[in-house]
Amino acid sequence: MDAFTFYNPTKLIFGKDQIQQLPDQLPADTKKVLMVYGGGSIKKNGVYDQVMEQLNKAGVEVLELSGVEPNPKLTTVHEGVQICKEQNVDFLLAVGGGSVIDCTKTIAAGAKYDGDAWDLVTRQATPTDAVPFGTVLTLAATGSEMNAGAVITNWETNEKYGWGYPPFTNPNFSILDPQYTMTVPRDQTIYGIVDMMTHLFEQYFHNPTASPVQDEMVEGVLRTVIDTAPKLLDDMESFEHRETILYSGTVALNGMLQMGYRGDWASHNIEHAVSAVYDIPHAGGLAILFPNWMRHNLHVNEERFVQLATKVFGVDPEGKSNEDVAIEGIEALRSFWSSLGAPETLRYYDISDEKFDTIVDRAMKRGPFGNFNKLHEEDVQKILEMSK
Ligand code: NZQ
Ligand code: ZN
Repeated sequence: MDAFTFYNPTKLIFGKDQIQQLPDQLPADTKKVLMVYGGGSIKKNGVYDQVMEQLNKAGVEVLELSGVEPNPKLTTVHEGVQICKEQNVDFLLAVGGGSVIDCTKTIAAGAKYDGDAWDLVTRQATPTDAVPFGTVLTLAATGSEMNAGAVITNWETNEKYGWGYPPFTNPNFSILDPQYTMTVPRDQTIYGIVDMMTHLFEQYFHNPTASPVQDEMVEGVLRTVIDTAPKLLDDMESFEHRETILYSGTVALNGMLQMGYRGDWASHNIEHAVSAVYDIPHAGGLAILFPNWMRHNLHVNEERFVQLATKVFGVDPEGKSNEDVAIEGIEALRSFWSSLGAPETLRYYDISDEKFDTIVDRAMKRGPFGNFNKLHEEDVQKILEMSK
């Protein structure tokens, strides 16, 4: 393992009706809260009313920023920053999925920064302060509720980047009630499952390799998600399955499973470039790209792919070469995702090779990337070609 320091300051509040804890979580001197949310799902499913009731109980003034879009835009961050600066907001509350949370994180840091918040996203500047914030999660997917990462898109330049600066972009607390995820539609439920699984894979494919405890944990969460996902899709209002998936999404990317090594993360970088050019759902892109990243990198460390195939996908290695077992594992993943209903090729989103050059350019903006295997321009081009 590499040397590491682990620190996660987010208080996780998990379970049915835990929204009742909200008033006690606000810092004692909170007067003005900016509630940030998306396109209206929280008004339809009653989450908005429940959150408002608790904020009223807390006796704070509430301002609202609604309309945060999936793949949140820099322009919405600007709006939030302006409200914070003009109205002296002293706490932010994100109520929604990863997009709302990421937007809130960037508003929080942008509100205490003199320049354009885009400087923070592009890492040309680092924050020195932030407005404190908490989250009420409504969609199991990104892990943003318990990590410092945020992903923001600039539509003027077709750039989408992940950034984060602990502890300023770590939520003070996150409230996770599985009931709030019951109304997530089928497609977003599938995307969430693909996203959390890909986070686990990104971490699994790492160097150095002496990580038996982490491996067992990642494999265990993967097997659980693989077992639960079809059951949830058969019974979308099962509290138990929603709960398992919600918890899985959080542990998949709260740092617990990445102690002592860096995950690969190349597929995420390529996907962010794809969705910066075509506004597609993050995990739709991952479902297409990740199996092809695997095929492309198979020979970097075949044993790792064999371990995944046998321990997670139950491939029987008897009488087969390592390569065959590894490929069987990749194909098992591909068919599992397609059995859920996830897309398999870029054609699904009407994406041809027309703008591959732009996508490659965006993906390479920060130089060669990937910690399991460094990818260069020609590798990205190849993975995109395989994904057509
Ligand atoms: O906008 P509303 O009306 O709320 O509808 C949302 C949105 O349309 C809907 N939704 C959310 N909760 C719901 C619900 N609909 C019904 N009932 C509910 N309870 O779902 C749609 C998608 O929401 P979004 O927040 O965009 O989804 P997700 O959580 O998958 O977030 C995706 C974003 O997170 C980034 C992605 O790149 C993308 O921009 N990521 C963030 C990460 C992080 N911060 O650590 C890591 C990830 O790898 C990812 O890159
Ligand atoms: Zn992701």
